[in-house]
Amino acid sequence: MTGRVKDPGLLFHADAASACGLLPAGRELDLVYLDPPYGVGTTMTARTKRGEARGRRRKESGPDAYDDDLPIEALVEMVAGAAAAIKEKMAPHAALFVHLDQRAVHEAKVALDRVFGRGAFAGEIIWEPGNGARGRGVPTTHQTILIFARRPADRKLLRWDSRSPLLREPYAETSLSMHFTKRDESGRLYRERTIGEKTYRYYADEGRRMGSVWTDIPAMSANTPLFQEGTGYPTQKPIRLLERIVVAASEPGETVADFMCGSGTTLVAAARHGRRFIGGDRSEVAIETTKRRLEGEGIPVLIVERTS
Ligand SMILES: C[S@@+](CC[C@H](N)C(=O)[O-])C[C@H]1O[C@@H](n2cnc3c(N)ncnc32)[C@H](O)[C@@H]1O
Repeated sequence: MTGRVKDPGLLFHADAASACGLLPAGRELDLVYLDPPYGVGTTMTARTKRGEARGRRRKESGPDAYDDDLPIEALVEMVAGAAAAIKEKMAPHAALFVHLDQRAVHEAKVALDRVFGRGAFAGEIIWEPGNGARGRGVPTTHQTILIFARRPADRKLLRWDSRSPLLREPYAETSLSMHFTKRDESGRLYRERTIGEKTYRYYADEGRRMGSVWTDIPAMSANTPLFQEGTGYPTQKPIRLLERIVVAASEPGETVADFMCGSGTTLVAAARHGRRFIGGDRSEVAIETTKRRLEGEGIPVLIVERTS
């Protein structure tokens, strides 16, 4: 892991678009992740003490964390508005990752194409949290993370560090037994492929590049050992998911932002990997949770309160 940045990160208690407007002139963002409400149609609550439940509001719920009750059209408009403000602050090589589910992702894709230009769309990650199908109807067991460049001409500048171990997965058994038949002087298994004039060597123990469907990172609630990282904030994402995104799409010392940071997962991932961070959220519970979490990890942060 890369050495941590000593300067404190910024945490705006503000709406995403206004937080962008409050950034110092000339401060560029190298990577932005946004995990907005999904259009669930209810208020989401936090678990702040034993016995309380988090998630959709019910009898045992803790305090309200945020409202997720906008109609889809209004939700998409809000996300597009935030993206337009973010675009103004993105470095030419920066990517915006937008995490949604089947309720709003398709309308959001179209709206974000209008913000960035259709050719700025770089692809999408399908994340399967591993909770299994619920109910008897058509199953939906994945969420989608859309990836955009600042504008179509900048798409080729986007980063993707596929050499990082966080972006590798084991080769399939059949591929290992059929193709990885040679050993180098230290005993490592490899295969070689010649493409054009050049021969490339691939080592079995380095694994292959991750594809765009990620099934190896369980959701917070799907895997009990992960509860250690649980803050009680609803829809908290696993730190491994954000670590993979941060490492893939930014470099040490660069600025990673999340203006709907909830419990601060992106900010912790950024700090752990030696990136600067800028966070924000309009929910008071989110800001308190993020502050506590960062302090718990010894990560310095400066809170900026909205003034209006
Ligand atoms: C799905 S949660 C984010 C969870 C987060 N990724 C985590 O790992 O904890 C969505 C967050 O967006 C925030 N939010 C919704 N609309 C916002 C807006 N317009 N500006 C800033 N924050 C907003 C909510 O308060 C909520 O904390």
